Amino acid sequence: MEKTLVLIKPDGVKKGLGKKIVKYYQNAGLKMIKRKEIDPTPQLLKQHYFAHVAKPFYPDLEKFMLSSHIVVMIFEGSDAVAIARKVTGATDPAKAEKGTIRRDLGDLSLPDDDRIMMNLVHASATKEEAEREIKLWFG
Ligand code: CMP
Repeated sequence: MEKTLVLIKPDGVKKGLGKKIVKYYQNAGLKMIKRKEIDPTPQLLKQHYFAHVAKPFYPDLEKFMLSSHIVVMIFEGSDAVAIARKVTGATDPAKAEKGTIRRDLGDLSLPDDDRIMMNLVHASATKEEAEREIKLWFG
């Protein structure tokens, strides 16, 4: 069975969307096998987002990710990585398809950069990324 990592970001936590978000993945046939709430450190976030650390938006992204605890989960199922990405939707909630978490639950009224940053969830993009992120967050 394939595993993937999903993280509920501070906007999802603060809006109390945790259970709703989990339902989207479960309704797509995935099983949540691990869940924990964590106050991430800047160091852990830099490791998680190593591909984005040098980008201009990174300081704002890190500040946002430190603004509350986050929820880190492992979902399991056949083709879990691709299914979780599909259910998550495009990075920009305004461009995500209807029926995805970011489109259905995202805040479309925010200005572009904020909306793209505060997009409720993160889901691993590839199997390799899932393995790396599961190790990083769950040891
Ligand atoms: P995520 O799927 O967690 O992967 C990288 C994150 O960086 C992304 O979701 C957004 O939260 C954030 N991000 C990506 N591009 C931008 C951007 N142009 N402006 C602000 N935040 C961004």
